[in-house]
Amino acid sequence: MAGYFEAINLGKTYKTPGGDAVIVQGFDLEMKEGEFVCIIGHSGCGKSTVLSMVAGLNEITEGSVILGGREIDGAGPDRGVVFQAPCLLPWMTARENVMLGVEQVFYHATKEERAQIGEYYLAAVGLSGAMDKRPAELSGGMRQRVGLARAFALSPKMLLLDEPFGMLDKLTKFELQGVLLDLWNRERLTAMMITHDVDEAIYLADRVVMMTNGPAASVGDVLTIDLERPRDRKAIMTTDRYRQYREHLVGFLEKCELERPVHEEAA
Ligand SMILES: Nc1ncnc2c1ncn2[C@@H]1O[C@H](COP(=O)(O)OP(=O)(O)O)[C@@H](O)[C@H]1O
Ligand SMILES: [Mg+2]
Repeated sequence: MAGYFEAINLGKTYKTPGGDAVIVQGFDLEMKEGEFVCIIGHSGCGKSTVLSMVAGLNEITEGSVILGGREIDGAGPDRGVVFQAPCLLPWMTARENVMLGVEQVFYHATKEERAQIGEYYLAAVGLSGAMDKRPAELSGGMRQRVGLARAFALSPKMLLLDEPFGMLDKLTKFELQGVLLDLWNRERLTAMMITHDVDEAIYLADRVVMMTNGPAASVGDVLTIDLERPRDRKAIMTTDRYRQYREHLVGFLEKCELERPVHEEAA
């Protein structure tokens, strides 16, 4: 049976002044519905390139992406995307930012129903008291909470997250990982998240996909995280299994580091 999500021989070649740059090549990945996959890999290997192609924001130059039985063709609200910076419209409140997408997706619902959807997700990310604030009045962590609420509120087929907590301090990052996991536990959306934080990947994912170094990056290894949910960060971190997962992932990244061409070291 085919997967709910499939990247088949996915590839990206950027046209550059110096000629064609093959960044991703032969990237294959199948995901079950409701699965949470994290992608790790060295900076610049092509993680964002893969995610942005899946999001439909970056043209696919080779292969294809299937989601829910259909080949994706361009961007759409069936994929909720969260970037490192949440890209909120600064003149709109948290609520209005979330409602933009809700109104587009749930146009057939009543105004009241739509408002309820927006409020439900804003409350779920802990923003009950800040719904009517503008981004400038919110901390970085709170803005990213709005970003999560906005993505989940679309009830998308798939959630795509590109280092969503990469700019947050450690404590805020832990909080937001908890918020994400709570919401995900409720809805079990199919999720693909890029991170370069090995602990974050183990805490969140069902499987961790390790990307090889570019150029022509692809899937180098896949690790299944067999830890019961809901997960308690402290409890899982003290287990042998956690340590083994961690060693596996760090080992992969270190091996990639050693295989990097010498000329890149200066960069
Ligand atoms: N529009 C573009 N044109 C040319 N090269 C690009 C473009 N976007 C990204 N790249 C190159 O593709 C490689 C992978 O980038 P990216 O997918 O952002 O990596 P990652 O997210 O893993 O850090 C990098 O070497 C980057 O310079
Ligand atoms: Mg990136």
